[in-house]
Amino acid sequence: MCKSPLHAFLRALPKCEHHIHLEGALTPAILFTLASRNNITLPQDDAAFASPEALLARYGRFTSLDDFLHYYYIGMSVLISPNDFELLAWDYFQHAAADGVAHAEVFFDPQAHMERGVSYATVLKGFSTARERAQKELGISSELICCFLRHLPVPDCLATFEDPDVQESFMDGSVRGIGLDSSEKSFPPELFEEIYWRASKLGLRRTAHAGEEGPATYITGALDTLNVERIDHGIRLADDKELMQRVVESGTMLSVCPLSNVLLRCVKAVAEVPIRKFLDAGVKFSINSDDPAYFGGYILDNYCAVHEAFDLSVKEWASVCRAGIEGSWCRQDRKDKMLGDLDTLVIDWEKRP
Ligand code: HPA
Ligand code: ZN
Repeated sequence: MCKSPLHAFLRALPKCEHHIHLEGALTPAILFTLASRNNITLPQDDAAFASPEALLARYGRFTSLDDFLHYYYIGMSVLISPNDFELLAWDYFQHAAADGVAHAEVFFDPQAHMERGVSYATVLKGFSTARERAQKELGISSELICCFLRHLPVPDCLATFEDPDVQESFMDGSVRGIGLDSSEKSFPPELFEEIYWRASKLGLRRTAHAGEEGPATYITGALDTLNVERIDHGIRLADDKELMQRVVESGTMLSVCPLSNVLLRCVKAVAEVPIRKFLDAGVKFSINSDDPAYFGGYILDNYCAVHEAFDLSVKEWASVCRAGIEGSWCRQDRKDKMLGDLDTLVIDWEKRP
């Protein structure tokens, strides 16, 4: 917990999380439990896998996005049954509830499971059960976003997109949109034009990781070729004033992940994330955890870190929260409820003795 007088306010904000990879919520404790339950042998030639504590310590020393992804893909190898996926997502939703999340739009990486023989139906069943429980028991609404792995050949991604089970999840609304993640450099958005074109024809929502490790031109590529409605990370936008103006005018929202940016060495400190530049220019953004089990914090830790670095006013925090609600992909009545809760919170906060 941070020491700011605003901590209780930050906790109480009806937060929307738009950038959380469910596989990135796999804590070392759950990883070791599932490895043992499913008889999965973890790498024996890497001392990081000696214990959950050693693994957590290694997570504090990532050198790049690819260094993190190496552990991220090994980690998810312990997920086998629908129950495993449910356990993982339920653990995330419980943390989200404790942090005051009202609505979560969560990523998952089906290719990383299907290529190891775990079916899409298994993954979806586990995640869907946890989502229903989160709605019922925690009051958290959620949407699923199916991500494609940009380091894999485009035809593999297209084949996954066209898989009958995947298509069914698009048609019945259990998956709301698509995303693009994994190694960024050398895999520009333009490669995935066909998938995004097909997604748009199906009425799916569209986002993509761009401008995390890759340059601002990847953000332009995602807007021009993929016709995305959101940009994940997007911190390199601050390098290009004209592009920033374009993003302001289009109202495209960025899903910024400050602790992730530090842990993956995209910036040296949270103070280097262009939060103040975005606020001053009118860029809409939400604040998110990305891979909370790997980057040392859930969403509230990210809010607190931003507050510590930038000392936002109550009005500024309310505007960040409002942008997140308005930029969400849920129904208008859900947004109206969250906007009402936000207004009440701000009024109550300003009236407090
Ligand atoms: N970037 C790209 N791919 C990812 C990330 C990320 O931050 N987290 C999980 N997959
Ligand atoms: Zn991400």
